Amino acid sequence: MKRLILALAASVAFAGMSVAQTYPTKPITMIVPFAAGGPTDIVARLVSENMSKTLGQQIVVENVAGAGGTTGITRASQAKPDGYTIMMGHMGTHGAAPALYANLKYDPVKDFEPVGMAAGTPILIVTKKAFPANDMKEFVAYLKANADKVNQAHAGVGAVSHMTCILLNSQIGVKPTAVPYGGTGPALNDLVSGQVDYMCDQIVNLVSQVKAGSIKALAIASAERSPALPDVPTTKEAGLPEYQVAAWNAVFAPKGTPKDVVAKLTSALNTALDDAGTRKRLEDLGGVLPTKDERGGEWLGKFVASEVARWNPVLKASK
Ligand code: MLT
Repeated sequence: MKRLILALAASVAFAGMSVAQTYPTKPITMIVPFAAGGPTDIVARLVSENMSKTLGQQIVVENVAGAGGTTGITRASQAKPDGYTIMMGHMGTHGAAPALYANLKYDPVKDFEPVGMAAGTPILIVTKKAFPANDMKEFVAYLKANADKVNQAHAGVGAVSHMTCILLNSQIGVKPTAVPYGGTGPALNDLVSGQVDYMCDQIVNLVSQVKAGSIKALAIASAERSPALPDVPTTKEAGLPEYQVAAWNAVFAPKGTPKDVVAKLTSALNTALDDAGTRKRLEDLGGVLPTKDERGGEWLGKFVASEVARWNPVLKASK
């Protein structure tokens, strides 16, 4: 009997060891909870390309859009926790969602193994090219006078583009018509073609269209201008200093994913964040890379808890 117990214990230990040692042996799916071509998709594809090289297996991005990102994250949170399904969550899915969805099927703090921060993404206020305002002051004045005629695109309730424009609109004191999309990738297409008037969006989605002049960027909602768009004034410079907000995108695995597997994913993400080519591509798009202190699962877990606590009262107060 004793020998049998010892043999069983040894085989369990060996199985645990071999999972982490051999992982990954097949492609990994990274769920992006928004449409292809938008900011979360862009960050996911940039970091996963380099992570795939490190891990020796392809990371396949799967876009599962809906309900401000909560559809995809719900699905990812319920996947088998074996390291073969991971996700790119963000400030909306893992910060705002609990305040906005009474029946949310996941808890951002308890139901995930945090892998690490991928990129901070400053927020810009952008309008269609033909919008009759060329700076922030004209924009605020126009909105106040014409809120019933203006429409604002967003990526669903709880998405970054939704919550950051709730903040903007409430500071200006307007309630324009909101037009939801499956992501700000498709919303940006409609902004470029002039079908919607404005949105609040993450910089990584916007740099090429702003540079091309096909949309107007009125201000960036951070303390400093972005080196990726140095001509765009900060909200402070543009006359709306109280509007300060920035988003983030981060990698998570479902709760119960083995610790050694999560450690391999974290290490591959860190390698991507140290890779000169990946860094340049993210920074050229205005992404803000996490410092060494802001990396890894432990830091991210604490950060998510602080984000839920930060957004809950703000969003509940805004109804
Ligand atoms: C996206 O990828 O479409 C965005 O992250 C959506 C958003 O949160 O605004």
